[in-house]
Amino acid sequence: MPRVSSAFFTIATLCGLAGMIWGSQMGTSGDHSMMPAHAHLNLLGWVTLAIMGGYYALPGAKPAVLAWVNLVLSSLGAILMAVLLPQVLTHKLSGKVMMAAEIPAILGIICFLISVISGWRKPAA
Ligand code: HEM
Ligand code: HEM
Repeated sequence: MPRVSSAFFTIATLCGLAGMIWGSQMGTSGDHSMMPAHAHLNLLGWVTLAIMGGYYALPGAKPAVLAWVNLVLSSLGAILMAVLLPQVLTHKLSGKVMMAAEIPAILGIICFLISVISGWRKPAA
């Protein structure tokens, strides 16, 4: 497996573990106010990063530097989402601060799109 895929899966699994512990804490406390933050840590962290890591491990994907840029941006987006959203949900910070998570998340998926499109040019394995 390419190292970049191992890195994607490592960060994805850490996000999944943290997201599940967070969900479990919400379930036991009965306080679901952090539900969107829990949901997006799992969806941007566990699900999205695992899909991207899986793609780069496919035969013929040949991950380049862009895959590492994708990893950094998408991981930053997922982690900042989980750190900043609770501050917004508790009205400690304005919702505008979420741009700090949204911009890397969107740039990360644009890198992924470029990687996927560039795969079309390579001959099928
Ligand atoms: C041990 C694992 C997990 C536990 C204990 C857990 C627990 C919870 C709880 C208590 C809620 C709030 C439900 C509500 O207020 O209606 C919730 C919402 C949610 N969780 Fe989890 N969760 C877990 C794993 C996951 C995973 C792996 C994902 C995604 C891959 C996920 C995605 C979501 C989403 C999208 C919502 C919002 C659902 C809605 O809009 O009603 N959760 N979870
Ligand atoms: C930059 C990335 C993203 C942004 C800015 C974003 C933003 C939002 C917003 C504003 C809501 C409404 C929350 C509420 O009403 O409390 C929402 C809900 C939701 N989003 Fe996202 N989202 C993003 C990525 C994703 C991804 C990648 C997935 C799935 C793979 C996803 C799945 C959901 C689901 C299931 C809900 C309903 C559960 C909830 O309320 O938390 N989102 N999102």
